[in-house]
Amino acid sequence: MPQIPLAFAAELGHEHGSLLELLSRLEAATQPGTEGGTGPLPALLREVQANLRRHFDFEEQDGYMSQALTDAPHLYNAAQELLAEHGRMAADLNALITFAAAAEGAVTPTLQVQVRQWVLLVRRHEARENSLIQKACNQDIGADD
Ligand SMILES: [Fe+2]
Ligand SMILES: [Fe+2]
Repeated sequence: MPQIPLAFAAELGHEHGSLLELLSRLEAATQPGTEGGTGPLPALLREVQANLRRHFDFEEQDGYMSQALTDAPHLYNAAQELLAEHGRMAADLNALITFAAAAEGAVTPTLQVQVRQWVLLVRRHEARENSLIQKACNQDIGADD
């Protein structure tokens, strides 16, 4: 019996696609050499926040904690580590939103660096999730043989 529902894997892939698109927009808004101007950064950060909340809810309610990974202890531990990162990423994003609001839309050099560091962290998190799901799917295929 498949351990990772294909519908979940497909939905997660779709979710990651839309999140990665937003992260690319954040990187474009904080390109080195563009600091000092004002722009859509505060609104974009809030858009990312709303997307991320939905995304984390999806993963926490329907994904990692499913029976699928409780049956695979080595993957379950990795999933727990990833889930534990959600709170910190959300808190860091809240701090960035506060910082951007205080700067009144100005993309300061400090804000630029902090936003890009945060984007990098989220990209790494998402890449590790994709790898985890891929391993689980491969395991399912092996189990079905
Ligand atoms: Fe996640
Ligand atoms: Fe994710």
